[in-house]
Amino acid sequence: MFSFLLHIHSSMWGIMVLLFILSYAFYRQKGWSMALRLAYLIMIVTGSWMLTLHGFPWKFVLKGILALVLIGLMEMTLAKRRKRESTFLMWILLIVILMVILLIGFEVI
Ligand code: HEM
Repeated sequence: MFSFLLHIHSSMWGIMVLLFILSYAFYRQKGWSMALRLAYLIMIVTGSWMLTLHGFPWKFVLKGILALVLIGLMEMTLAKRRKRESTFLMWILLIVILMVILLIGFEVI
C-alpha cells in the first residue's frame, strides 16, 4: 500500500507543478485550475495517508504543513494574476517553498 501511495504521490507532484504553470499562463481558461485543484487533493490524500502509515515523523509533518502553504500560495498567485496584479514576490516564495518540500521529500535534508 505505501509504495502504491508513494508512486502516485511522486508522479503527481510534477503534474501539479505543470498544471499550475498552465493555469497561470491560461488564467482565463477554468479547466486548468480545476485540474490543478484535483492534483492538490491527490497530493494531500496520498501524503496524509503515507504520513499516517509512517507514524507522523516530524520532518514529514513539517513537509505536509509547507505543502499546504504552497497550495495556498499557488491559489493566491492565480487570484493576483486574474486581477492583473504583480505576482513576482509570490513566485519567489513559491519556488523557495517547493525546493524545501522536494529536499525533504527526497530526504536530502
Ligand atoms: C503539495 C505539494 C507536495 C509535494 C510537491 C510533495 C513532494 C513529495 C516528494 C517529491 C516526495 C518523495 C517521493 C519519492 O521518494 O519518490 C514526497 C514524499 C512524501 N510526502 Fe509529499 N509532497 C507534497 C505534499 C505532501 C503532503 C500534503 C503530505 C502530508 C500531509 C506529504 C507527505 C509525504 C510523505 C509522508 C512522503 C513519503 C516519504 C517517504 O517515506 O519516502 N506530501 N512528497
